Amino acid sequence: MVAFVIRIVLVVRLMRDESYRQGTSLAYNRQMAVPHQELFTGAKMPAIGLGTFGSDKYTPDQVAAAVIDAAEVGYRHFDCAAVYGNEAEVGTSIRHLIQNGIDREDLWITSKLWNNCHAESDVVPAFEKSLTDLKLDYLDLYLIHWPYPNYHAPKVDVSSRDPHAKPYIHENYMKTWRQLESLVQRGLVKHIGTSNMTIGKLEQVLRDAEIMPAANEMELHPHFQQPELFEYVRSKGIVPVGYSPLGSPSRPERDRTPEDTVDVEDPVILSIAERLGTSPAAVCIRWAVQRGQVPIPFSVKHSQYAESFRAATTLELTQDDMVAIAGIDKGCRLIKGQVFLWERATGWEDLWTD
Ligand SMILES: NC(=O)c1ccc[n+]([C@@H]2O[C@H](COP(=O)([O-])OP(=O)(O)OC[C@H]3O[C@@H](n4cnc5c(N)ncnc54)[C@H](OP(=O)(O)O)[C@@H]3O)[C@@H](O)[C@H]2O)c1
Repeated sequence: MVAFVIRIVLVVRLMRDESYRQGTSLAYNRQMAVPHQELFTGAKMPAIGLGTFGSDKYTPDQVAAAVIDAAEVGYRHFDCAAVYGNEAEVGTSIRHLIQNGIDREDLWITSKLWNNCHAESDVVPAFEKSLTDLKLDYLDLYLIHWPYPNYHAPKVDVSSRDPHAKPYIHENYMKTWRQLESLVQRGLVKHIGTSNMTIGKLEQVLRDAEIMPAANEMELHPHFQQPELFEYVRSKGIVPVGYSPLGSPSRPERDRTPEDTVDVEDPVILSIAERLGTSPAAVCIRWAVQRGQVPIPFSVKHSQYAESFRAATTLELTQDDMVAIAGIDKGCRLIKGQVFLWERATGWEDLWTD
């Protein structure tokens, strides 16, 4: 009798686990109406991604939990980086997604080479660490995070300087780039790209690269539209990926200056949001998608990343809205990069001049 009851309990538990598993798979396999941006290879990058930089505020486990739930919402694109300090945890979530029914080919996983690994002999080991941490056998996109070699401890003040920091030296950048190209040739990464670049630097890279950058990650939000760089990368067939798409409202105090403006409080954004019955954040996200960049908002809060995903996939701005938002660009760079300055630099603007 006891054995019979145990068997019944086991069968019921198995059925419950199986239906849970199938339910999860079904949800993951739903046809999501995620718009895409096509890269020069013909590959399709989902037009919204989830940022994973928790900064000082969110733990690796919180970010990793958000990755799983965001996939349930419909996200397939995750923007990672070694320097975010959470690739191992995010990788566990990615493995969970694949084991529970998401095809690897339907995911878009980006990672980035940190500034202290530009030396030729450091690139491949740094990439392999990210690949291992993310528990994958290839990446969709691997970026050089910043075009400046340097080292600084996490969370240092913006006044901190690395005495060994270097400016952009094209010859050295190309040595790093050649290593990224070798990763493509070995089938370990589908695309390589740049981040935090200027037109002048990109022109040199495009002149000398054997494999061209497929994407350029850059700060993009309504108060910082970078129209020249944006148009330049698009004219070269490079997809602009826009970071801090909401104006990074939660960045640490040390990264704020009195001149910084707040996108989600702009009267134009507020009035469009009011008319559409949505939030200012949703307007920023939809503006980005409709303009042609790929926003990668960060959040660990279900209501926020679900709202951003809905905005990217279903909200519609009018042509007048797009024109009105084009008119509120304030050239307000929020991520200035002060800590990456080298000895003779005069100010953070040096990082952004050709
Ligand atoms: N390539 C690079 O050099 C670089 C540089 C910076 C960032 N990135 C990438 O870009 C990602 C995003 O950048 P970011 O975090 O600086 O800026 P962001 O996405 O503009 O701002 C994120 C913050 O906005 C709030 N938020 C998110 N969704 C919201 C919503 N729907 N409604 C209202 N508030 C919302 C959250 O604040 P609370 O948490 O306070 O609620 C969240 O922490 C990063 O995670 C990283 O992947 C790349």
